[in-house]
Amino acid sequence: MTDRPTGVLAGQKALVTGANSGIGEAVALALGRAGADVVVNFVTGAEEAEKVVAEIARSGVRAIAHAADVSREDQVQDMFRRAVAEFGTLDILINNAGLQRDAPFHTMTLSQWETVIGVNLTGQFLCAREAVREFLRRGVVPSVSKAAGKIICMSSVHQMIPWAGHANYAASKGGLKMMMETLAQEVAPQRIRVNGIAPGAVRTPINTAAWNTPEAYRQLMTLVPYKRIGEPEDIGKAAVWLASDDSDYVVGATLFVDGGMTLFPDFAEGG
Ligand code: BGC
Repeated sequence: MTDRPTGVLAGQKALVTGANSGIGEAVALALGRAGADVVVNFVTGAEEAEKVVAEIARSGVRAIAHAADVSREDQVQDMFRRAVAEFGTLDILINNAGLQRDAPFHTMTLSQWETVIGVNLTGQFLCAREAVREFLRRGVVPSVSKAAGKIICMSSVHQMIPWAGHANYAASKGGLKMMMETLAQEVAPQRIRVNGIAPGAVRTPINTAAWNTPEAYRQLMTLVPYKRIGEPEDIGKAAVWLASDDSDYVVGATLFVDGGMTLFPDFAEGG
């Protein structure tokens, strides 16, 4: 154990879904470094989750791994019960778990559609609902945070950029945008802050094919004005800020962390 954490999230309790890899892992590590205790949710990949837990613990905070499929109500409820039992309460939910099942529209199966909507949209609903229940039960504790709780919905640039061949994924993120904004409006009077992060192309296992060869990377960069791929840590830093009182007046916003991908890059030389 190192000294008692003193970061911007010191003493706060966080739950990060899909935290055993990619963006979720980076966010979980960043929250731990900022002083939060962290529940590391995963659905498969227990070994990776335990590695993330061990790494977080090096920041001198508590971390536990918990397996749960976020699209399953019973599993989500068990997970939140365990989080509150272990940590006493919850201050931060990072609704991160997400997946892709890509297919041309005319060959997309119902199962591909339902899997993506189930995890990316219904999963965020189920987790946000449990978090809001705990935030409402406990209310604001001024020594911990100005807010009664913070929810960050991990969205995507595809909440606004249509994406051929990915109708299920784009629909899940477009739906998520409205769920996030509606929930933000609904619970702001109770001092619960709900916001979104919309990453662009970030170097994670979900999109390996988009960056792991020089040709793919070159192609990808035509879509990114800032001319580098995003790193998971870019998202971790944004999440810490949105979860902290430094962003206390930010409510219902989506922070695009995308190197300019949403700036219509083709128009740099056209129009
Ligand atoms: C997707 C990635 C994609 C990125 C930019 C993300 O939401 O999951 O596969 O590379 O958007 O298009």
